[in-house]
Amino acid sequence: MFRQALKCSVITAVFFCFAMMAAGVSFAGNTGPEEIILKTAEGKKPAKFPHKKHQETIKCEECHHTMGADGKKGPYVAGEEKKCETCHNKDFKNAELNSLKGVGHARCKGCHKEMEKAGKNAPTKCTGCHVK
Ligand code: HEC
Ligand code: HEC
Ligand code: HEC
Ligand code: HEC
Repeated sequence: MFRQALKCSVITAVFFCFAMMAAGVSFAGNTGPEEIILKTAEGKKPAKFPHKKHQETIKCEECHHTMGADGKKGPYVAGEEKKCETCHNKDFKNAELNSLKGVGHARCKGCHKEMEKAGKNAPTKCTGCHVK
């Protein structure tokens, strides 16, 4: 009886471990999905975003941040990465940043334009990010 229970718990633990790995959960901290398709509820212009590729050269805090009690941008806190639209939605006070498009173009396109000047291969054309 005891041995069976032990065997069962080991199998459960191993299974759980593989399930976590399959779900892309890292034990060193959650780094999120490797590939992301960014889109709004209407899904008019989905944009592809190779998250992992960016993480290899760009720090988390370049894109992720929090919001302070005063409503201003707060520091990056590991484990507190949220969907951009949690804050950047139609209720956001700054009209240039009150949508996923707003922050997508400000942050993604903004950096890519700088990168292009620096001779790097970051897409700036619409079809470089937007997929059909
Ligand atoms: C170049 C920008 C960029 C960098 C660098 C970056 N991320 Fe992200 N990350 C994003 C975007 C954009 C999303 C998708 C947000 C959305 O769906 O609104 C995301 C999503 C996530 C999510 C899932 C959040 C959720 O609730 O769906 C996690 C977790 C995450 N990132 C962790 C990290 C960590 C940890 C690092 C650093 C090792 C990192 N990211 C680096 C842009 C970035
Ligand atoms: C917890 C709320 C919150 C989340 C989640 C959030 N932001 Fe922000 N973001 C803010 C606040 C607050 C500001 C400051 C706005 C201002 O000063 O007008 C800001 C500012 C910005 C700016 C303006 C430039 C700068 O860096 O100050 C960009 C671009 C931006 N966010 C992109 C993103 C992206 C991309 C995501 C998702 C990966 C994201 N934000 C997630 C709250 C948030
Ligand atoms: C701080 C700078 C920076 C930010 C912010 C950034 N990128 Fe990039 N991105 C790059 C660079 C640099 C490359 C070129 C990488 C390479 O080829 O090694 C790139 C490449 C890409 C590529 C092409 C990848 C490939 O495999 O061909 C896509 C698509 C892309 N980025 C989408 C996005 C989106 C969408 C966002 C916003 C959520 C974003 N990027 C934010 C710097 C940035
Ligand atoms: C560097 C990546 C990048 C480039 C280049 C880019 N966009 Fe975007 N765009 C995004 C991201 C990220 C979003 C937010 C995701 C979404 O709304 O589907 C977005 C959102 C949009 C939206 C809003 C879609 C919606 O459902 O509300 C439109 C319209 C749009 N882009 C048009 C364009 C056009 C036109 C060009 C070329 C002149 C362009 N974009 C170039 C990343 C990019």
